[in-house]
Amino acid sequence: MTERSTPYASTPDLSAFWMPFTANRQFKSAPRLLVSAKGMYYTSHDGRQILDGTAGLWCVNAGHCRDEIVAAVQAQAAEMDFAPTFQMGHPKAFEAATKIAKHTPGDLKHIFFVNSGSEAVDTALKIALAYHRSRGEGQRTRFVGRERGYHGVGFGGISVGGIAPNRKTFSGGLLPAVDHLPHTLNIKEAAFSKGQPAWGAHLADELERIVTLHDASTIAAVIVEPVAGSTGVLIPPQGYLQRLREICTKHGILLIFDEVITGWGRLGTPFAAQYFGVTPDLLTMAKGTNNAAAPLGAVAASARIHDSIVDGAPAGIELFHGYTYSGHPIAAAAACATIDLYEREGLFERAARMAPIFEQAIHRLRGERHVIDVRNLGLVGGVELAPRDGAPGARAAEVFLRCYQKGVLTRYTGDILAFSPPLIIEEGQIDEIFRTVAEVLRETE
Ligand SMILES: Cc1ncc(COP(=O)(O)O)c(C=O)c1O
Repeated sequence: MTERSTPYASTPDLSAFWMPFTANRQFKSAPRLLVSAKGMYYTSHDGRQILDGTAGLWCVNAGHCRDEIVAAVQAQAAEMDFAPTFQMGHPKAFEAATKIAKHTPGDLKHIFFVNSGSEAVDTALKIALAYHRSRGEGQRTRFVGRERGYHGVGFGGISVGGIAPNRKTFSGGLLPAVDHLPHTLNIKEAAFSKGQPAWGAHLADELERIVTLHDASTIAAVIVEPVAGSTGVLIPPQGYLQRLREICTKHGILLIFDEVITGWGRLGTPFAAQYFGVTPDLLTMAKGTNNAAAPLGAVAASARIHDSIVDGAPAGIELFHGYTYSGHPIAAAAACATIDLYEREGLFERAARMAPIFEQAIHRLRGERHVIDVRNLGLVGGVELAPRDGAPGARAAEVFLRCYQKGVLTRYTGDILAFSPPLIIEEGQIDEIFRTVAEVLRETE
C-alpha cells in the first residue's frame, strides 16, 4: 500500500445521490470514495492506493485509464458529442459493431447496441420473441432462466433472474411465463474444484422436464450466464452447457448466453462461448466491451435470427426497439479503442496464461479460517465463507472492509468473496490480493 501525497481535498455532500445496490445509511456514515485510477490501482479519497481485485465491477478488463481509450473518448467528445442512430447513423457505431463482430462466436455477427447489461438482456429476450413471431411461431413466449442467475434489473432481467430480493418487491411486474432451472453449485459434491467441477452436468436435463411440462412449442428461449458471477461465482459443471445446447437445439428453443461478465477475455478467450465450445443463438455483453469507459452494452445475434426478423419483415422498421443512446459516439469510440488494445496487447491470451497462477494463488486459501469453498475459472474466482450464526453476510462484509482498509478491493455477495481482476494483473499483484485476504481471514471472527 503506497500513500498518495495529495489526498482528495474534501468529501462532497452525500445526501442527494440515492445509491444503487448499496446500504445507503451505512455507506454514508462511513463513505468509501474512489477519486482516481490508473492501471491496476484506484486512489481512495484519503489518498491510499487500492489494488483493484475486481476490475471495478467486473468491467475494466484492460486496466484503468488506458491512454489509448482516454484519447479516443476525448477526441470523440470534441469531434461529435452525439448523433442519433434512429434513421440516421455515424461511422463510429458501425466501426465498433464490426470490431465486436470479429470476436463474437459462430455466426453471431449482427450487433444491436444498448447502454447496459440490463438493457442487453431485455433486448435479447425481445429479439427472441420477435424471431419466433417472424417465423409464424408467435406462441413461443415462455422463457427459462436459472436459480441464482443475475440478468440485470429490467423487468425482463429480474423475471428470468433467480435472486429473491431482486424479485419480491417487484413481483407485480414480472413476466408471466418464466421457469427456472436449478443452479449448479453443490458444495457437498464439488467443494474446492479447480476449474469446472466434474459433478453436475445432469442438472441440464431439468430443461427436458420443463419442456415436457409446457411443451417445446411454447418456449422461446433459455437464458444463462455461462459462469454465474454476481451470485457468487458458480462455475458450470463439465458438459453442462453442451447439454443445454443440445436440448435447446432439439426443441427449437433459442439459447441466450448472458456474457456481461464472461465476455471480453475473462476466461482467456473473447467470450465464454469459445472457451466452452458452445455457440448460443444470442449473446449479451456490456462492461468490458469498451472497458467501462462509457455506458455500453450489446446483443450479438446469429444470422438466422437477424435474417428472419430483418429480411422477413415488410418494408419499414423491422424491429420496434432501440434506445436514444444505442451506439452512442463516445461509447462506440471507447469500444473501438478498447478492442484494438485487447488485440494489440493480446490481453485474452494473457488472461489464459495468468489463469493457472491465479488458480494456484486462490486455492492457497483452502484451509484458512472460515473458508468452506474456493472455485475459479480463467481470471474469476470465488471464496465462500461459513456464515456467522444468525448474521448471514456479515463475515464477508467485514472481510471486504478490512481488505479495503489494507489496500485491496474485493467484492462480496452473501458470504462469498468474488475476484475478477483486470487482465493486465501481474503475478505479484495476484499474490498480494490473496495474501491480504488470508491475513484478514485470520484476523476476522
Ligand atoms: C450477467 C449479467 N447480466 C446483466 C448484468 C446487468 O448489467 P448492468 O448493471 O450494466 O445493467 C450484469 C451486471 O453485473 C451481469 O453480471
